[in-house]
This record gives sequence, structure tokens and C-alpha cells, in this order.
Amino acid sequence: MSKVPALLDLIAQMTLAEKVGQLNFVVGDLFITGPTMKPTTSDKFDDQIRNGEITGLFNVYGADYVHRLQEIAMRESRLGIPLLIGADVIHGFKTVFPIPLAEAASWNLELIERTAQIAAKESTAAGIHFNFAPMCDISRDARWGRVAEGAGEDPYLGGLIAQRRVRGFQGDDLSKPDTMAACVKHWAAYGAPEGGRDYQSVDMSEHLFRSTYLPPYLKALEAGAATVMTAFHDFNGVPCTANEWLLKTLLRKELNFDGVVVSDWGSIAEVSAHGAAENEAGAALKSFQAGTDLDMMSEGYLKYLIPAIKEGKIQESVLDESVYRILKLKNDLGLFDDPFRYGNREREKLELKTKDHLSVARQMAQQSFVLLKNEGSMLPLKKSLKVALIGPLADNAPDMNGTWSFFAEPDDPVTIKEGLEEAGLDVLFAQGCELYHSTTKHFPLAKEIAKQSDVVVMVLGESAVMNGEAASRAELGLPDNQLELFREIKELGKPVIVLLSCGRPLVVPELAEEADALMVIWSPGSEAGHAVGDVLVGDVVPSGKLPMTFPNAVGQIPIHYQMKRTGRPYLGNYDEPASERIYLSKYRDTPNEPLFPFGYGLTYTKFELSDLTLSQTCMEPGDSLEVCVNLTNTGLYDGTEVVQLYISDIKASITPVAKALKAFERVTLPSGESCKVKFKLEEKDFQMLNENRKWIVEPGDFEVFVGANVNEGLTARLEWTL
Ligand code: GLC
Repeated sequence: MSKVPALLDLIAQMTLAEKVGQLNFVVGDLFITGPTMKPTTSDKFDDQIRNGEITGLFNVYGADYVHRLQEIAMRESRLGIPLLIGADVIHGFKTVFPIPLAEAASWNLELIERTAQIAAKESTAAGIHFNFAPMCDISRDARWGRVAEGAGEDPYLGGLIAQRRVRGFQGDDLSKPDTMAACVKHWAAYGAPEGGRDYQSVDMSEHLFRSTYLPPYLKALEAGAATVMTAFHDFNGVPCTANEWLLKTLLRKELNFDGVVVSDWGSIAEVSAHGAAENEAGAALKSFQAGTDLDMMSEGYLKYLIPAIKEGKIQESVLDESVYRILKLKNDLGLFDDPFRYGNREREKLELKTKDHLSVARQMAQQSFVLLKNEGSMLPLKKSLKVALIGPLADNAPDMNGTWSFFAEPDDPVTIKEGLEEAGLDVLFAQGCELYHSTTKHFPLAKEIAKQSDVVVMVLGESAVMNGEAASRAELGLPDNQLELFREIKELGKPVIVLLSCGRPLVVPELAEEADALMVIWSPGSEAGHAVGDVLVGDVVPSGKLPMTFPNAVGQIPIHYQMKRTGRPYLGNYDEPASERIYLSKYRDTPNEPLFPFGYGLTYTKFELSDLTLSQTCMEPGDSLEVCVNLTNTGLYDGTEVVQLYISDIKASITPVAKALKAFERVTLPSGESCKVKFKLEEKDFQMLNENRKWIVEPGDFEVFVGANVNEGLTARLEWTL
């Protein structure tokens, strides 16, 4: 691709120090999102800007704050190169949307793109134009707290969501004042850390990486993401930030990515902590040589690249290439035309937390909730009922914002208590227990209000800091003595509805067994209470579906719907006596099945699928297939079903996964009505990755499965011939 002459001219004027300064990216002084270090004081980075030692700052916002920094860069530095202003706008800025995993549960791609657009609109008004999102890390391990930031376990759903988020952030023109550069993170396969422990090693076959973990990153890159962020961990023995195979062989050469590669917070320096470099100078050299352009927070490039060039370890021409990519990003953002285009006092006044934005947040929250149980149609609640609302998250605004919500106002969210009251319910409230330690001192009041009520609604689960980064957990039950509180309330004999506010699948088999109704509400964001009220009284019918499997036991992890058959599949057809042993792939102490499977979610109405037909049952190369199924709403409420289509390859040269999601449709249908749901499959939907890393269709039998989740639905067979 031809280069921008003006940028090449600028590089020609730059000193070596100014070039290296363009690779140095530092945190501002508003808040930190990395290893505890005192926030840099503004006078320190003011001087660095004047001296051309930093290319931009992150975790800063506010039109006045950002413009002050740009003024220094434009008026007081030798070359007047504008600054990048970055941040983690992960699920909204001032209007906080449900966490990304919750948005994934909506399976509503248009709405996901819309929330990303709004996030871009609000954060660019406040001066941010480089967003460290979307996080595209597939994960099958709920012990890892960062599943909250992703789209769950499935490559297909995760890829479509990543694509929509990039489009939402970047729009069709990066230089527009209300669009921002996206960042594909964390490159790569960060979601598969050993032991589910954050930052821990990832080691997997190239086949597993390319077939399962790579696809969402590819979709984000195909959508034109401007940047990529390296991950903290070592991937197959080499830290991602210094991993030449990941950064050069795969990203630059195979995928032709010519955008900026930014390290994660301090991950360049951490290459030495991994034991992959003798010291921070060596770490900086290895990272730069591997292809990481921008140094977030280690200042390793600032300190060590000039000596490395003078000693001939790095060619200045290679440095110029990185500098060019960074200047090109600034140019694409329109910063050379107008460094003050992002951040505008008027826009800040008019475009943050608007009624329209909050209405979208409410809609997304409603559609993100997943109804897992509704015994005897406990829900929706009749407004005549007296409701005992109990739990540490029931009258709690800050934790509704969820993880990665640094720009949110803690008291902004509508609490669930407020939402139920506004929905017209007669509510008595008691906290019931604490969030961060076990005490029973609140139990008596909780039990008292339960006795006085017709029905109990308990809001249990995780606070916002219990998931997200550096929040791995070895146990996934309810924290502290929340379960004890549930048991004591349940013993009173009243119907109990549990709302699970969490950022990951939790292991809650007793709730699933004993609660009359169970709904996952995740961290629902600014409009938490309104959305909960809407759904609990039936103004909105729940439609969410799990984007990630809920385990029966933490020992099942990693657990997901694509687990292979094995040579000794246990199909749940034989319970072995304790004294005996059956030689099948099963646990002795827990079922193989999850508590709730991928794609699962109930609603207040009832849907039935029938008449699955295929346009043909013998396929040849180049053929496409039309799949048609009848959907009927046999229940009392209008509702939305997410009809899912999976393909199973019965035999292949590489053992096939059990099923693979290949299409889905969100279908809204009035009570009593039916419709045809059609899918069109292409040859690519039947391809598998063979041992030569080629996506091909191998001849043989396939199953097409269409269902309301990965386990319940209709099957048809077809054959591919070559
Ligand atoms: C954090 C995260 C990364 C984030 C960056 C800047 O440690 O790993 O996702 O974008 O630092 O906050």
C-alpha cells in the first residue's frame, strides 16, 4: 500500500529520540488499570510531551483535559505531532451497557453494534479516540475472571460479535469526530490460561488455536480494526509481546495486517519476568524485533531502543516502519488535520447519558437476561404480590456497572430495588448478607420480611471486582455465605426467585434445584433496575441464551459444548456401582453434563420447532444448502426465540468436535403464531481444518441440528460427496 508522503517527510525530520518517543504510550493521572504504581503526575508527562518523549496517554478523558495535552503537543513540542488518547471503553462510557458477556447473551448483533456506536459517540465527545476493545478472547474456563469481557466459548458467535463491535467503534470513517480506533485484543488466545489463572501460560496445538481461538480475532481484523494488542501470557513458550510467530509470521505476513501493534500494560518489560529475556533491555529488544510497535507503560523502548540502534542491534529503517504505522493511525484519525477534533465541551453536555442512550442500555439489559428456571411459571410476577427483595446486590448501584466501568458514575445505575418499585411492585427490602465476608447478622431481618411477603426475590452473585482482570477464582460457587442465606430463606416455604448478578458462569447446582425461578442478569449496567423490573413484571419477555456453558462442578472445567466424543463416549446410559469401574469417559463424582448448556435460555412463552427440511441431502463442492424449520409460539406471551443451527461432522481426518454453531436467527413471534425460519449454508459451513491447516470439506455424513439450545432440537442428515 502506498505510503503518505507527508508522514514520510515528517519522519525524515525526526531525531532518533523523537522517533522512539512516538513508540512510548503512558497512563494519565486519573486512574490506573495495571500493576499498582503511583499514577504519573501531570507535570511529569507535560514535560515528556514537550520533549517528544510520549506519543499519547490513556485512561484520560474530558474535553478540557485532553485539549490541554494536545495544546502542549502542538504548541510546545518541536514537531507538533498530535497525541493519541486511549482508554478501555469496554461496555459503554457514561451510559454503561451490560458487560460484554451479557451482551453476547442477547445474540442481538445489531444491538451490539449499536451499543458500540454509542460508546464511541460518548467517549469521543470526551476526547478519547483509541479504544482498547473489542476483547476477542474465546474462553471455556469460567475460573478466568476476564470471561466477563468477552463473548463466551463459541468461535462463530464470538467472531460475529467482534466484527460488530469493531464496526460500531470505527464506523465507516476513522477520521469522523464520533468514531474511534478499535483494538483487537488480546493477541492471542489469552482466554485459555493454565489453571484458569490470569496471565498464566497458554500452550495449545496450532490446530486448536486456528480452529477455535483465532476465528474471532480474524473477524475483527476483517472488519478493519486499526490496532491489535498483545497479551500478557506466553503462547507456546514465547511471551505474546515478543512472539515473532504470532506477530510477524501470522499477523503481518499471513494476515497482511499493517496497523499498529500495541503491547499490553507493561508487557514488554514483563518479557524478562517470563524468563524470556535477561533483563528489561533485552525484553525491549526482543519485543521490538518480534513486531510490537507501541510500548504501553514499560518505557522500555524509550530507555533501550536508541542504544540498541547505535549498537546495530536494530536497523533505524525498522524503527521508521513502526513510527510510520503510529503516525498513520494518527493521520487516519484525522489528528493531523485537526488535533482538537475529539473532545468537545458542547458534545460532552449534550451527548452523554442521553435518554436515547439509556433506552438502548435498558433494551440491551432486558435482552441479555437468561431465564434458566421458572417452576410453575413463577415469573412474571403479579403486581398484587408483596415482594421481599433480599440480597447484597439488590439495592446496590455501583456493582451494577460491572467490571471495566472506570468512566461510570458509581451511583448512576438504577438499582434493582428502585426498578421493582417503579414497576409497581410492593417491595420490602433487606440486604440479607454482606458481599465480602460471611456474617449472619442481617439474616433475621431478611427472614422477617420474607415471612411478611408472598414471594421472595433474591439478588445474589458477584460484585464488580469479583470478575474481570486479575480476578480468577478456584471455586465458582456463590461468594461467602450467600448460599446459607438462600437456604434459610427457602426453608420459610415461600416461593423464591433468584437473580444471579455475575460476570461469569457460576456453579450453582443447589440454586438450580431449589429456587423456584432462576435468571442470570449479569452486571446489567446503568439501566439495571429498570430492565429487571420490565422483565420481572412481564412487560418484556426474557429471550437471552447462554454464550458460555454453566458447569455442574468446577472440576468439569474446561467444559464447553464442542467437547469431542472420545473413543469411549459416556452417553449417560449406565450408572456404575461405587464398587465397580466402567471404562468410559466420565467422572465418578459428577455428571458429564453441564448445569446449563450453551445456547440455553427459557422464556415466558413456549416455542416449538417442527418440520426440519433440507433443500438437498447430497451435497457436492460449490453447493449451498437451504435449511427450513417451522417455529410456533404455543405459549401465552409474544416472545423471541433464538433459533440455532449447528453442524456435526460424523467422521473426519481430525477428530471432529461434537457440534459447531453455524447460524442463528432471533425470531419474534406473537402468541399462537407460526413462521418458517430459513438458513442458507455454504460449503464453508461444512469445512474442517485438516492436518495441513487447510479448511476443506471432507466427503462423508453430516448432521444438521436446529434447536432452541445446543441440546434440544431437530436433526437431519446429509452427505457430502466430492
Ligand atoms: C490492562 C488490560 C488491557 C487494557 C490495558 C489498559 O491490563 O489487560 O485489556 O486495555 O491494561 O488499561
